[in-house]
Amino acid sequence: MSTNKGMKIVIVGTGYVGLTTAVMLAYIGHNVVGVDIDEKKIELLKKGKSPIHEAGVEELLASLKNNITFTTDLKPNVGEADIIMIAVGTPAKVNGEADTHYVEEVARTVAEGLINGHTYTVVVKSTVPIGTNRRVAHVIKKTLEERNVKSTVYIASNPEFLREGMALYDSFYPDRIVIGSEDPEAIEMLRRMYRPILEQTFDPPQAIPRRDGYSLPPLITTDPVSAEMIKYAANAFLALKISFINEIAGLCEKVGADVTEVARGIGLDTRIGLRFLNAGIGWGGNCFPKDTAALIAVGREYNYEMPIVEAARRVNQIQRERTVEKLQSVLKGVRGRTIAILGLSFKPGTDDVRESPAIDIIRLLIERGAYIRAHDPVAIENARKAFTTEELQKITFVNDPYLVAEGADAVLVATEWQLYRQLDLKRLASVMCTPILLDGRNIYLPKEAREAGFTYMGVGR
Ligand SMILES: NC(=O)c1ccc[n+]([C@@H]2O[C@H](COP(=O)([O-])OP(=O)(O)OC[C@H]3O[C@@H](n4cnc5c(N)ncnc54)[C@H](O)[C@@H]3O)[C@@H](O)[C@H]2O)c1
Repeated sequence: MSTNKGMKIVIVGTGYVGLTTAVMLAYIGHNVVGVDIDEKKIELLKKGKSPIHEAGVEELLASLKNNITFTTDLKPNVGEADIIMIAVGTPAKVNGEADTHYVEEVARTVAEGLINGHTYTVVVKSTVPIGTNRRVAHVIKKTLEERNVKSTVYIASNPEFLREGMALYDSFYPDRIVIGSEDPEAIEMLRRMYRPILEQTFDPPQAIPRRDGYSLPPLITTDPVSAEMIKYAANAFLALKISFINEIAGLCEKVGADVTEVARGIGLDTRIGLRFLNAGIGWGGNCFPKDTAALIAVGREYNYEMPIVEAARRVNQIQRERTVEKLQSVLKGVRGRTIAILGLSFKPGTDDVRESPAIDIIRLLIERGAYIRAHDPVAIENARKAFTTEELQKITFVNDPYLVAEGADAVLVATEWQLYRQLDLKRLASVMCTPILLDGRNIYLPKEAREAGFTYMGVGR
């Protein structure tokens, strides 16, 4: 554990970002209060249970009882804090803009709890459109003036880059830390807060070991607008890298090339890099879809088009439709057919089904008259909530990956869970009505799948 003198930190929002950040900060020696308006989440957290599926969170919560507490009550908890981090959701509005009203609401409540004469650093960790830091500063200043309270408040943007499924790992061992602020004091406070991470002076938690060869993360300090832009640009680039390889995959299918070979062949060029070049049924989650939409919306405000980001989104949508078309084509129509779906979360390691390709594809299949049997090791409960009552009548959730395929006309691998890589394909094929496998994540070797008795289709091979 760190020798760094613990700071008092309030984190508002205990979702994927807020909770993992809170756990990491408590572990490196700070005193953390996690705040959420969701009473159920807070109740669970008070019992040491994690409301989200993320490796290591519950183990660490159990060992951090003295450093971390949870509450639904924000105002009374901010007065004595050094740092207040805002990590609430910023969902997409209908026009694609990010909705920052939760962030601003929190900023107001925070300001209502600040104490005369104290100094605070308020940090925006949520992914927010350009200029939101200025708005947060304005809301806080105005509220303090209304209350006639004189506190010193420094504002900083500290975008988060963690990957769901690896959230704690990324919090302990980030590639970089970005801080955008006009206030040198805020940068200094955050440098102190992150010192054990920047210098890697903490003992790695057993559940989240440090990988060999990990090098110290650079601290990038910049202005708030650039920090906000870094976050959007990073997500847009990652999204378009996947959409690019998916577009190439489509052409590979036409010309008879194997996209996995192509991806390796180009990815070994260090200017390109191997990661995020896995062709598949597309990206989803709480970030790429809404952040690319928000970036385009920011452009629109300035009458500035972003055709590359728009195309990345279009290709991603097409990828879902092509998956359904492939099933329609191989089954000569899906009406009345039973399709088994392996995987519901938008990626492995998480129970998050927001904007998950699996969910969209199931919906499209149901629209075309198919029946669905669906499996996921952790996301079934969340998936259930994502469908309408009518849709649910067409879906059977099954807790076993072999059982789910029983009697199915085709199986679609929608999420590349490790569990699916290890399936006995012969056994899987043997329980199906017709052994057709659409490997939406290219996790099997086509030859092995065919030898197991499957009619095999991948993406771009
Ligand atoms: N999930 C990711 O992988 C990821 C990665 C980087 C950045 N982000 C960004 O971080 C932000 C949070 O994302 P998330 O995935 O953790 O969201 P989430 O939906 O999992 O969690 C947000 C939490 O904020 C709470 N909340 C909303 N209003 C509140 C209020 N007024 N007071 C207290 N709590 C409130 C909600 O109840 C919820 O628990 C978003 O802006 C997102 O874009 C997410």
